[in-house]
Amino acid sequence: MSNQEENKQEQPILTTRQGHPVYDNQNLRSVGDRGPATLENYQFLEKIAHFDRERVPERVVHARGTGAHGYFEAYGTVGDQPISKFTRAKLFQEKGKRTPVFIRFSTVIHGGHSPETLRDPRGFAVKFYTEDGNWDLVGNNLKVFFIRDAIKFPDFIHSFKPDPVTNRQDPNRQFDFVSLTPEAMHMVTWLFSPWGIPADYRHMEGAGVNTYKWVNANGEAVLIKYHWIPDQGVKNLTQEQANAIQATNFNHATQDLYDAIERGEYPSWELRVQIMSDDEHPELDFDPLDDTKLWPEDQFPMLPVGKMTLNKNPENFFAEVEQSAFGTGVLVDGLEFSDDKMLQGRTFSYSDTQRYRVGTNYLQLPVNHPKHHVATNQRDGNMAYYVDGVAEGENPHINYEPSSRHGLQEAPRAGKDYTPEVSGKVGRQAIDRKNPYKQAGERYRSFQDWERDELINNLVTNLKKCNPDIQERMVNHLSQCDTEYGARVAQGIGISVKTAVTSRD
Ligand code: HEM
Repeated sequence: MSNQEENKQEQPILTTRQGHPVYDNQNLRSVGDRGPATLENYQFLEKIAHFDRERVPERVVHARGTGAHGYFEAYGTVGDQPISKFTRAKLFQEKGKRTPVFIRFSTVIHGGHSPETLRDPRGFAVKFYTEDGNWDLVGNNLKVFFIRDAIKFPDFIHSFKPDPVTNRQDPNRQFDFVSLTPEAMHMVTWLFSPWGIPADYRHMEGAGVNTYKWVNANGEAVLIKYHWIPDQGVKNLTQEQANAIQATNFNHATQDLYDAIERGEYPSWELRVQIMSDDEHPELDFDPLDDTKLWPEDQFPMLPVGKMTLNKNPENFFAEVEQSAFGTGVLVDGLEFSDDKMLQGRTFSYSDTQRYRVGTNYLQLPVNHPKHHVATNQRDGNMAYYVDGVAEGENPHINYEPSSRHGLQEAPRAGKDYTPEVSGKVGRQAIDRKNPYKQAGERYRSFQDWERDELINNLVTNLKKCNPDIQERMVNHLSQCDTEYGARVAQGIGISVKTAVTSRD
């Protein structure tokens, strides 16, 4: 609409939140024209007090991001088999069945308006509004992670966040932590290659990273890894290309996604899964629950299950993107956790932080609210917006169960329960098959020449800023991934490769 057209239309009247028409929005009430101001001035107090509260705490990680709405369309199959063989999750069963989604893409370490060109994993969080309630698949663009035990997450993040004294991100702190964490070598090899700076959000992959399970109608489970493959292709940036973009535009990825959707160029991703039988797989040289490892595709092929298309921009960034809340515990019938202890740690963390960041009733906000039946006996709390369930016929006097007075009833079971057996000694133990270097070395060798050159340059630039003991430890690890890898980094920093000291792992 042009400005002229807008002016011709009858303009809506400005009010306070109490519905009082505002006839002067330019001058606060004061004694005479020079003041002092009066304090009974509700209109001003409401306006300024609301402004004072405009910010909620930003996400402790993944603060910088953007989002879009769309839909997921199921193939009804996994590869060439009916999907019901492996999972009874309703959203997957019928070919062509559409489920609405909301997605949020992000970077990890820096604040809400930090440049989108930074070297960082990219978040890839999808909320499926299924008929059985919400399913959140909270992933990253890179398919592995730095650590495999949730208790290490706050330390890992602190080492990558700005120094608490100088407020600057510092390679000496990052590589201090990383050089004492051999399992991080695989992720570091991805992150310091061009894959650590995707060109934008449309041209990157996504992955669930952690291992999940699927359960079928007979209550039988398989292990699952999720992957999103972009129809737009994958594009990554060299450090130099990223620097050039950042010099003129620090919102380029948000802009790219928004503009593409406005142009009607709807980005899409195919969802593929890898499947493994539900056991420990002693024949493998890694543990299937270890999120620092890939499942080799020649043994565990990527099987397509459906496609996601993004076709609508948010109408309000704060309401939809900022207040959206994803969590790894948010699963629907037919989808399950695995025993992956990192995943279990995540599952506590997400909803915990959201109750603090957004508030007790964050699930009543439209972006988080399931689009189907919600009826609970949860009541009250900060900013309760409505009463769950009463609109659907629940007796408003009954907020407990069991009750004979038209309260909420338990649902019928959706299928045979999945009842895994768990046994073992309780203790603090690292997983057995650590193998921190093999896949990192394979990754190094599989890169194209330009990607390998970038990786070495980026590591050298950062490690040059580190203390000698950190440099030595890093070269030692990288040499065990691949002799050439370690030698090139050592040469770049200007140190010699010492005989490999056996690492903690
Ligand atoms: C134990 C390890 C982890 C913990 C404790 C953890 C914790 C968190 C927390 C507290 C948030 C902020 C959520 C919010 O404020 O709404 C978050 C966001 C996020 N995390 Fe993790 N995280 C972990 C590992 C991972 C891994 C391995 C991935 C990738 C697979 C990942 C992907 C994400 C994404 C994509 C977001 C942003 C979600 C959004 O867009 O709102 N995290 N994480």
